[in-house]
Amino acid sequence: MDIVLIASLPTQQEYLKLFKTAGWNKDYNLTSEELFKSIQNSSYCVSAYDEDKLVGFGRMLSDGVAHAVLFDVIVLPEFQGESIGREITEKLLEVCHSNKIRDIQLFCAIGKIGFYEKLGFKKRSDECPGMEIIMRY
Ligand SMILES: CC(C)(COP(=O)(O)OP(=O)(O)OC[C@H]1O[C@@H](n2cnc3c(N)ncnc32)[C@H](O)[C@@H]1OP(=O)(O)O)[C@@H](O)C(=O)NCCC(=O)NCCS
Repeated sequence: MDIVLIASLPTQQEYLKLFKTAGWNKDYNLTSEELFKSIQNSSYCVSAYDEDKLVGFGRMLSDGVAHAVLFDVIVLPEFQGESIGREITEKLLEVCHSNKIRDIQLFCAIGKIGFYEKLGFKKRSDECPGMEIIMRY
């Protein structure tokens, strides 16, 4: 399979289609415009294409110095298990390392701990967990 990674945004419709496969929008209830704005406002995005088909995506928000947070690493179900998710995440990590980002974090989806552990991530300790406020509109 000849997958090409590019550091640019997919179209609004391409991204909506891919994002829906993750099932997260049942909770977030984002419009396609809001979803597109979320990737436009990201610090760095990686899109994976099989010819002209968007098959994967990942993005990060960063202050460019100390912190980066990875979001929305998604591979189309029929393209999973082909190292596309790994390549997307490695590209995001490469950008972090080239900027000497000190802390690289993410929110792990259910069942994906093993995927991220293989890429070097470790669960935060119970003494300093991630904390959040969840809002739904
Ligand atoms: C998580 C996801 C991005 C992985 O992408 P993928 O392209 O299927 O994964 P890869 O083929 O690159 O896998 C890389 C390695 O991680 C392993 N791996 C993949 N998913 C795993 C899982 N859920 N648990 C444990 N290991 C996993 C693979 O076996 C592979 O191991 P190897 O390098 O030893 O062969 C993909 O399953 C996905 O899009 N899921 C839906 C969205 C989602 O949950 N994203 C994560 C957000 S936190």
